[in-house]
Amino acid sequence: MQFAAILAGGSGVRMGNPNKPKQFFFLGDKPILVHTLEKFCASGCFDAVLVLTPATWVQQTKDIIARHCPQYVDAVSVIAGGAERNDTIMNAIRYFEEQYQVDDGAIIVTHDAVRPFVSLRIIEENIASALAHGACDTVVPATDTIVESLDGEAISAIPNRSALYQGQTPQSFRMQTLKEVLLSLAPEEKAILTDACKAYVLRGKTVALVRGDVENMKITYPQDLRIAEALLEA
Ligand code: CTP
Repeated sequence: MQFAAILAGGSGVRMGNPNKPKQFFFLGDKPILVHTLEKFCASGCFDAVLVLTPATWVQQTKDIIARHCPQYVDAVSVIAGGAERNDTIMNAIRYFEEQYQVDDGAIIVTHDAVRPFVSLRIIEENIASALAHGACDTVVPATDTIVESLDGEAISAIPNRSALYQGQTPQSFRMQTLKEVLLSLAPEEKAILTDACKAYVLRGKTVALVRGDVENMKITYPQDLRIAEALLEA
């Protein structure tokens, strides 16, 4: 089986509106989350699509879906996410296990709700790569030189840019292994391993690369929303 988890459980602190998480901001004529959700539903790749939001936004999210993409109401479920991004992913795994006959081959594609320009190619290549390799991350080659500073005062290293990539999402996994890896994290590891792929790497597991796209940007700051508006009109 193939499951999609749209991660919309964050509060969007860097976007600056404490009353409304950024995934509910409008982009063009509908909320960012709806753009993202439509990409996954229209792909036809999934047995189930799940949206995870802050607990206080679950009912509003159902209302938003009913209003902006009524054709997908029956195909999409909405539940509460968790305190950290990985907790949100664990909630998704538990939900799929409760609701479906999940076998060892089940795949979960996890995607940031705030990356509305994900393409069908990226979704399909994630599924193929997760099936072939067990886990994959979507990346683009780094364009800026990445400078490392361990103390925030002076440069400690400048890694070779040709070997550096910027991580995007989706990140996709064989679901059973993802559950084992996330459950294996000690509390102090959990605090720093906010990225599921990083947890895999630390456990010595292969994470294959899927070619992303610069358009598959993440909306983090208000200026990102302005860039997204321009991309939408392009
Ligand atoms: N996310 C989630 N559950 C959390 C935290 C984040 O589902 N507990 C989701 C966000 O909703 C977002 C994605 O993970 O779609 C990427 O996270 P980020 O951009 O960091 O979002 P926020 O945590 O909402 O932003 P901020 O750090 O500015 O508060």
